Amino acid sequence: MMIIENISHHLDMLPAIAAWHRDEWGSDWEQQVLHSINKDKIPTIYVAINGNIPVGTAMLVNDDMITHPELSPWLGGVYVKKEYRGRGIGLLLSQHAMQEAARMGINQLWLYTTSARKLYEKLGWQYVTEEHYLDESATIMNINLAEKFKIDRQ
Ligand SMILES: CC(C)(COP(=O)(O)OP(=O)(O)OC[C@H]1O[C@@H](n2cnc3c(N)ncnc32)[C@H](O)[C@@H]1OP(=O)(O)O)[C@@H](O)C(=O)NCCC(=O)NCCS
Repeated sequence: MMIIENISHHLDMLPAIAAWHRDEWGSDWEQQVLHSINKDKIPTIYVAINGNIPVGTAMLVNDDMITHPELSPWLGGVYVKKEYRGRGIGLLLSQHAMQEAARMGINQLWLYTTSARKLYEKLGWQYVTEEHYLDESATIMNINLAEKFKIDRQ
């Protein structure tokens, strides 16, 4: 059975998760991962767990693009272990992080992607702009969580 839980309940999984992220995105991001262990507060990590094994993550972080300090917070660290890809786990993790952000009272959430724009479009994210970032073409996207989850914040 697959569940998604906050990292604060599974700190024993943090070293394995940090290693996936270092291999995918490098050691600066690994440091972000090691410091994203809050419960109900950003920065944090949501972990997909199959049996007792971590198989993927999604994160909420305050800063992601050094070129856009004015944008915050961000969905990031969306990662699924290779052998578990293509089964909807990336979508589930992203949706879970979005719901948790909404529950924290966040309306505007941001992300950038160099490869997975389609995945986020499926969840209602909108294209904002494209820019050259760290030697790649990055698509910046945004979602209004209050609209997405029909929350009235009067
Ligand atoms: C991107 C990633 C998280 C997707 O995880 P996943 O569990 O395989 O994704 P899902 O099965 O939920 O995919 C849902 C949809 O998103 C799309 N999608 C998934 N990965 C994609 C990718 N790399 N590029 C473009 N579209 C992608 C698929 O079209 C899929 O729709 P379909 O079922 O109609 O084909 C995974 O491939 C991964 O960890 N990649 C390496 C890290 C990475 O690039 N993360 C994204 C950072 S923005």
